[in-house]
Amino acid sequence: MPYVQFNHMAKEDLLSIIAYIKTWKPIHKKVPARQLMVPIAMAYPGPALQASVDGNIRPPETDKVKYGEYLTTMADCGTCHSPQTPQGPDMTRMFAGGYKFDLGSNKVNSANITPDSATGIGAWTEERFLTKFTQYREEKSYNFNPGNQNSIMPLSILAGIKDEDLKAIYAYLRTVKPVTNAVEKFPK
Ligand code: HEC
Repeated sequence: MPYVQFNHMAKEDLLSIIAYIKTWKPIHKKVPARQLMVPIAMAYPGPALQASVDGNIRPPETDKVKYGEYLTTMADCGTCHSPQTPQGPDMTRMFAGGYKFDLGSNKVNSANITPDSATGIGAWTEERFLTKFTQYREEKSYNFNPGNQNSIMPLSILAGIKDEDLKAIYAYLRTVKPVTNAVEKFPK
């Protein structure tokens, strides 16, 4: 669970999520006790988690880059889009891509989404970026390719992000440090 990211969630957004969860149908099911493999502080080295979210606010939509950064953090694009190491995603090269999802016959590496023009999405227009998501708004346009070459990216979920929010995410991603990292999308 991306605790580090969600630790920065605006309090009002958190309260909305709680209100929504409370509308779910209760299901009686006992799950095994939680067993964390490593203490959370070890899994997420770096600045300590804040003890309270009281001070968290969502940046205004008019501040496109900051607002986009907030959305990118909450959608947790960074974990999937960071290079893979034996310890997990390398968050020091966040967005440089190359995290390999191995689903047997279907292997796919996450893309470099930093603004590097040769290996990232530096040459992508805002329109091309939007299309990556919006084309999945209707099920008939899903590109099912059973057995191989499928994206692991939750495009059907992310497709619902409204246009203005996708534009803010795009604006923010233009501002991150370009990292040269050539990624083969569908490794053997
Ligand atoms: C579950 C992991 C996962 C999450 C979460 C995720 N992605 Fe991806 N993304 C991938 C993978 C794997 C690919 C490569 C396959 C593809 O193009 O669909 C990819 C591809 C892309 C591409 C295409 C880049 C190219 O060069 O073709 C863009 C743009 C992108 N992601 C942006 C995002 C953004 C922005 C978010 C957050 C809103 C996000 N992704 C969340 C795994 C993920």
